[in-house]
Amino acid sequence: MTQDIPSAARTCRVAVVGAGAAGLTAVKELTEAGLEAVGFERRERPGGLWVRDPEGNASPAYASLHLNTSRGRTEFAAHPMPADWPDYPSADLVAGYLDDYARRFGLYDRIRFGVEVTRVERGQDGDGWLVTADGGTERFDAVVVANGHHHDPRWPDPAYPGDFTGEQMHAHDYQDADTFDGRRVLVVGLGNSAVDIAVDASHRAEGPVLLSSRRGAYVIPKYLFGRPADATNGALSGLPWRLRQRISEAALRLAVGRPEAYGLPKPDRGLLESHPTVSDTLLHRLTHGEVAHRPGIARFDGDQVVFTDGRRDTVDLVVWATGYRVTVPFLDDRWLGTGPEELLLHHRVFHLDDPTLCFVGLMQSTGAAFPVVEAQSRLVADVLSGRACLPTPGEQRADAERALRASTERWGGDRRPAMRIDFDGYLAETAAVRRAAVDRARAGQGVRVRVAAPRTIGEER
Ligand SMILES: Cc1cc2nc3c(=O)[nH]c(=O)nc-3n(C[C@H](O)[C@H](O)[C@H](O)COP(=O)(O)OP(=O)(O)OC[C@H]3O[C@@H](n4cnc5c(N)ncnc54)[C@H](O)[C@@H]3O)c2cc1C
Ligand SMILES: NC(=O)c1ccc[n+]([C@@H]2O[C@H](COP(=O)([O-])OP(=O)(O)OC[C@H]3O[C@@H](n4cnc5c(N)ncnc54)[C@H](OP(=O)(O)O)[C@@H]3O)[C@@H](O)[C@H]2O)c1
Repeated sequence: MTQDIPSAARTCRVAVVGAGAAGLTAVKELTEAGLEAVGFERRERPGGLWVRDPEGNASPAYASLHLNTSRGRTEFAAHPMPADWPDYPSADLVAGYLDDYARRFGLYDRIRFGVEVTRVERGQDGDGWLVTADGGTERFDAVVVANGHHHDPRWPDPAYPGDFTGEQMHAHDYQDADTFDGRRVLVVGLGNSAVDIAVDASHRAEGPVLLSSRRGAYVIPKYLFGRPADATNGALSGLPWRLRQRISEAALRLAVGRPEAYGLPKPDRGLLESHPTVSDTLLHRLTHGEVAHRPGIARFDGDQVVFTDGRRDTVDLVVWATGYRVTVPFLDDRWLGTGPEELLLHHRVFHLDDPTLCFVGLMQSTGAAFPVVEAQSRLVADVLSGRACLPTPGEQRADAERALRASTERWGGDRRPAMRIDFDGYLAETAAVRRAAVDRARAGQGVRVRVAAPRTIGEER
């Protein structure tokens, strides 16, 4: 039996919040599926965080930022990156690429720029969604949340004890290496922001740049065995991740050795069980003594930092490369529960209480983001156009709980397991989920989210 979720509104309109990679793919796919998609973007152009903002704070991208996922693994299927581009293009090239995508698919006309969504709530009559932006409120049949999750700097909470008399900044506000001229610098964290910023600083700072982390990480060079490292891993994509992990760890050990050989702590989880830290240059700067590792911070003492091994260093500037909080400020707790980092969704996309509330990009991938948001957007378009049917609510919840258990086992309970996806595994699963959803619709089973006039079942896009 098909269980219809009807919509009284007949305009079949979908609001898409954000016009970064995720929002752009959503507007394109929804439009191509015959829905009226309206994008809302608070900045003046598309591209999200890849569009640098040196004068303001609308983007965490810095002057030296390049992709750390390779061109071939990052490009959209619908819009390949130019073949003569480098394997790891700069942020400015990526911003131009997203702008080209928006122009090629006519998305400029469908997005309202310079408009911030401040509230999204269920219509009072229980029908549709009320979207408030720039003081006005409009009704939509469905909403796609694509607001990104690298805007809200995560400072240590609680703050480290003691007083620090030097300057502090978060990686989000870092622009270029002029910041470091002649200063004694400590960078905190061992993620991709930390290692990029430490390397930038190491060319300009006074003395070695200190890089503090409370645990270890594998540092993966951009090239392994003469090709992009993620392509090497991608070649193993048909294998179970545990097997891929063993092979990848052996390959990394062979190519660069163990992290401990560079003075970094031993990672407490295996490769593919923690977010990859990718850098060619960190290992080089460590071996030259221009970057020196320190353990976690114990406390501050005036212009000194005391580390957990008892060592002290004098520092002028601390850069907190401690990541980002995931926030969806325009949705209330009714929809977010204990918070967006823990929110269970059907296939990381559909809200379990109401599939007309969709999320594109609310995930942390082991690989690139663009193919993931493209696949998620295609799934959303299939479902909202009525071409495909979701499993029953009970099955959706059971699937989401199963996925969380597997993810917690792999990534650990304190590392946002609900958001984690394995790049290759997730893309393969999404293809299967889409096929099953179309089959369900053909068989008249599951939940059809009818916000649009139904297409003929079997009609291919
Ligand atoms: C420094 C850095 C480097 C990265 N490098 C890589 C990489 O090499 N490869 C990779 O695949 N991924 C990388 N990522 C991950 C990155 O998040 C994705 O590449 C991609 O940018 C995600 O797109 P998005 O649309 O989800 O988010 P964003 O790019 O953040 O776009 C979200 C958009 O929503 C808008 N918005 C937010 N709230 C509202 C609102 N209330 N109303 C209207 N508009 C709103 C924002 O202005 C923004 O334009 C990196 C992330 C960071 C922080
Ligand atoms: N293309 C690129 O080159 C590039 C560059 C930068 C960022 N990125 C991407 O942007 C995203 C964000 O990266 P990010 O590096 O900013 O954040 P991140 O991946 O969340 O890393 C944060 C780091 O800070 C540490 N940390 C967090 N809280 C801490 C605390 N209170 N005290 C000490 N250490 C703390 C974490 O270590 P613990 O494990 O100990 O918590 C971790 O090492 C990622 O997806 C990343 O891949 C890509």
